[in-house]
Amino acid sequence: MKNIWIIANWKSNKTIAEALDWVDNVGPSIPENENLKVGVCPTFSCLSEVKKAITVGNYPLMVGAQDLSPFDAGAYTGEESAFLLKGLIDLSILGHSERRQNFSETDEIITKKVAQALQNNIMPLICIQSQDTPVPKDCRLVAYEPVFAIGTGKADTPENANEVAKVFKQKYGDDLEVIYGGSVNSSNVQKFVSQPDITGVLVGNASLDAGAFLSIIKALEG
Ligand code: PGA
Repeated sequence: MKNIWIIANWKSNKTIAEALDWVDNVGPSIPENENLKVGVCPTFSCLSEVKKAITVGNYPLMVGAQDLSPFDAGAYTGEESAFLLKGLIDLSILGHSERRQNFSETDEIITKKVAQALQNNIMPLICIQSQDTPVPKDCRLVAYEPVFAIGTGKADTPENANEVAKVFKQKYGDDLEVIYGGSVNSSNVQKFVSQPDITGVLVGNASLDAGAFLSIIKALEG
């Protein structure tokens, strides 16, 4: 059976109190299933509290960052290094289009971030925007997120997303896991995940509300 990844990307949202409320609501309702990989990517300011709440509740919920530094720990003011994050997170989103657009991230910088993540046993989740986005070496989990679909309510078609996933698997190996992101909700998630080459979803807006996020998980059970 293939893995199903359901990853919440909170972006720059939620106070610590709101984050803990979400964990209290979502954590106890996640079904225990070896192939179901549910994760949440909070802001840096919420990470340690979210991690603590998940550990105390013993919830089957992975924790991720939304970015990390391309450098080692040290004299890099403002940066969050993989070395310092490693006890807190299992994975990190890297190369999200919002970072490429707003923070001038290049493929070269993203490759450096991937190296930092891998050196510190953090799984990189690389966002690819088109068939031409390169996947750095040793990345085994990517999210296809076409820019037109992000936050617009206009998701790509599951069939097209599957075509892109197929191309990436042909290029980088059949063990590359490809998930889809861009206006995923409880009504369309099943159609994406049932595609043969898509193994999950990265969810922005619809992950912010605990109930809406749980209904995405529930939609896959039915
Ligand atoms: P969206 O965002 O679900 O709000 O479209 C997805 C993402 O940017 O990862």
